[in-house]
Amino acid sequence: MFVTFEGIDGSGKSTQAELLRESLVREGRDVVAVREPGGTPLGEAIRRLLLEGAGPTSAWAEASLFAAARAELVERVIRPALELGTDVVCDRYVDSSLAYQGAARGLGVERVLELSLAATGGLLPDSTFLLLVDPIEADRRLGARRDRIEREGQDFRARVDRGYRELVGRFPDRLVALDGARPPGTIAEEIRERVRERS
Ligand code: ADP
Ligand code: TYD
Repeated sequence: MFVTFEGIDGSGKSTQAELLRESLVREGRDVVAVREPGGTPLGEAIRRLLLEGAGPTSAWAEASLFAAARAELVERVIRPALELGTDVVCDRYVDSSLAYQGAARGLGVERVLELSLAATGGLLPDSTFLLLVDPIEADRRLGARRDRIEREGQDFRARVDRGYRELVGRFPDRLVALDGARPPGTIAEEIRERVRERS
């Protein structure tokens, strides 16, 4: 089973990815937890290029670097794990590129989807949990901890949020939108229940 978490920065993805991992492990399942960009030596180097310092100026350079990190993660970690029957929980995946580069940076969701599908050999998750939180609340949660993309302004965050909400209609079977304003434990219970229904 391949599960991914999505949402704007500060929506609680990492918290929920970790809670789901712990709950699957408690049930005796083998789980690999990864985050994007990263999870391989090349992916971690690309993460530093993208999120620290000046980063790329060209939006297509940015999208291509995220796609390169994803290609490496899928080939080296995600596919091998799935082939062994291991569950994979990933903090961000293609929908991040669709919302951030496709929608918010204006590259076009279809074109960025094509790039990402080429990079991953068409691998899409079984389920994707999209945590919906008001961008102002998410910003408040982030506090001072910010990478290059998190330092973009409120306008950018609102475009990412709209981009994500539009994706729900595009992928109704895979994408599950959840109210991320509730307490972490309540959200985790709902996610666990939905994963059970789907596996
Ligand atoms: P993301 O990975 O989406 O950026 P995190 O899981 O790192 O988000 O959470 C960002 C901050 O918000 C952290 O300080 C975390 O403890 C807090 N947080 C996470 N989930 C919730 C929630 N449901 N309600 C309130 N605060 C939360
Ligand atoms: P992330 O590791 O989730 O940051 P944090 O855990 O601190 O919230 O993501 C790093 C940033 O990269 C985040 O601002 C979203 C952005 N991003 C994209 O713009 N496109 C992508 O395809 C991915 C995977 C991430």
